[in-house]
Amino acid sequence: MRHPDYEEVLARLKSSTESTPLKFLDLGTCLGQDLRTLAYDGAPLSSLYGADVLPEFEAAGHQLFRDQERFDSSHFITGDVFSETDQLAGSSGSWDIIHIAMFLHVFSLERQEKACANMLRLVKKSSLSTIFGTQTGRLDAGELVLKPPMCEPGEHKTIFRHNKETMQEMWEKVAQSVGMKVQVWTGYDEKDASKRADEVEKGDRFFNGDRERRIFFRVRII
Ligand SMILES: C[S@@+](CC[C@H](N)C(=O)[O-])C[C@H]1O[C@@H](n2cnc3c(N)ncnc32)[C@H](O)[C@@H]1O
Repeated sequence: MRHPDYEEVLARLKSSTESTPLKFLDLGTCLGQDLRTLAYDGAPLSSLYGADVLPEFEAAGHQLFRDQERFDSSHFITGDVFSETDQLAGSSGSWDIIHIAMFLHVFSLERQEKACANMLRLVKKSSLSTIFGTQTGRLDAGELVLKPPMCEPGEHKTIFRHNKETMQEMWEKVAQSVGMKVQVWTGYDEKDASKRADEVEKGDRFFNGDRERRIFFRVRII
């Protein structure tokens, strides 16, 4: 809801017709709260789909939102963004809008680039197609080597945290590598940044320093 494109996306979904419904995919949907927000605000359920690598989230989301009857299993795909053969990969080229929230930061930069290339394959090859979302990041982009409890003891996991410039560069580079033309916009959530600064000052934030930022982005196919 905080994304600057939320109202525009909602309006596009609301104007889509039964005969030509727009297809919206929330990738890494987890409990599916962003899908339910769109539905609550009037987006047709026929347009809304979620995908996650962990199948258990579908039932947990249904329990939480009590909407198994209205929002049935056909709207949830168990899928791995890195797979070339699963049900999600089978939906390549069919999505008008792909949304990702707090998704890319769980991967290294190399894996993020692979995930973005696969998202560009999933989206419809049409000039209105869009990939957009929200991401935690840092003003100083770079790798972070995770330590327990952020990873399993003995596990070596490195993630990459973007700033808005590196996020833009990544999408442009990946689009070029898959032969697609895109227009990329990135920006920071300024309201969140000032709230964080207050919380850091008061000592209310445990994990995040004042260099952390929430990044909004949009990739339009042109
Ligand atoms: C940090 S959570 C974000 C969830 C939700 N979008 C939100 O904003 O609250 C990341 C989600 O991505 C899913 N995920 C992780 N790796 C994935 C993959 N390779 N393919 C699809 N989903 C994946 C996780 O299971 C988890 O639900």
